[in-house]
Amino acid sequence: MMRILPRLLGALLVIVLVVGTGVYFESQRKLGRTIDVDVAEIELPSASDEAALARGEHLAVIRACSGCHGADFGGETVIDDPMIGPVHAPNLTSGEGSVVADYTTTDWVRAIRHGLSRGGRPLQLMPSEEFTVMDADDLGNLIVYLESVPPVDRESPPSGIGPLGRVMLVVGEMRLAADVVDHEAPIEKAPDPSDALAYGEYLAATCTGCHGPGLSGGRIPGVPPDWPPAANLTPDEETGLGTWTEGDFVTALRTGTRPDGTKLDPVMPYAQFGTMNAGEMRSLWTYLKSLPVKEEGNR
Ligand code: HEC
Ligand code: HEC
Repeated sequence: MMRILPRLLGALLVIVLVVGTGVYFESQRKLGRTIDVDVAEIELPSASDEAALARGEHLAVIRACSGCHGADFGGETVIDDPMIGPVHAPNLTSGEGSVVADYTTTDWVRAIRHGLSRGGRPLQLMPSEEFTVMDADDLGNLIVYLESVPPVDRESPPSGIGPLGRVMLVVGEMRLAADVVDHEAPIEKAPDPSDALAYGEYLAATCTGCHGPGLSGGRIPGVPPDWPPAANLTPDEETGLGTWTEGDFVTALRTGTRPDGTKLDPVMPYAQFGTMNAGEMRSLWTYLKSLPVKEEGNR
């Protein structure tokens, strides 16, 4: 026994080192590669088009850009857990520390629709798979608005990845948008807002990163273990929104309060979604009510 134990421990150490090194290099490869994509060309509206700027401002909030990049778009730390991150959403203004200072329209579209930096590096946590539905008008309005926001001087520290983050990345628990989006997909025309069901689906794309593609909630992939699971948004009576009224839903998004009076965790960006107008709320609700009932956590 006394002779075997040190050998066993030695073998274990070797295994840990080999696996650890493998995880390190594989995660480094995933984050460090560059991906070259054909970026669709769009026309920006005029920078003095007030309606376009107002629409762009609204989109920057309801598509949750401000939830991660900050209300002033000067950048914010989204995950500061050293096991996973740190992950910083960078400064999108023209101030000091900006990452978009020399951006062309193509660079904006590459980041928003493909999850790639200007140089083609896969972006961490940036949920581009939620944004590929955006049509050329919405993209143009959003970009022209972001180019107009007042400059904020704030450094954007590079994002990093902790040991648990590396393991999650290698086993597929953490996914990079650049590996998920269909880089060939053309920009489609958005449904007409008068078609509540289709327009609701268009808006709900922004809920799928956290609530899952089927919107039944569960653990949000790639985030620190202390983040609460996302809720079931399908009409399941037990765990979902089956017993909610449209009014309950609107109140929850506008105030962060559930029908039973409890508060939503701030991980749920209700302050952003609460700015949706009555038509958008109705569309979103119409779409959620139409979903097939799913058990919580099936994603
Ligand atoms: C869940 C948080 C989150 C949301 C929501 C989000 N971003 Fe990001 N974004 C990030 C993070 C984190 C990075 C930096 C990732 C990195 O450097 O690996 C980033 C990077 C970027 C970049 C910089 C790319 C580069 O060249 O370095 C742009 C541009 C950008 N986001 C625009 C947007 C826009 C526009 C929206 C809304 C449509 C948005 N983001 C929504 C987290 C987010
Ligand atoms: C950044 C992640 C994130 C995004 C994006 C997100 N949610 Fe959530 N949502 C959550 C989390 C986490 C909870 C659970 C909060 C809690 O436990 O307090 C939640 C809870 C909810 C609830 C409360 C349901 C209940 O039964 O308690 C509603 C309603 C909701 N989200 C709607 C939406 C809609 C609609 C969208 C898209 C427009 C959306 N969420 C986008 C993370 C998110």
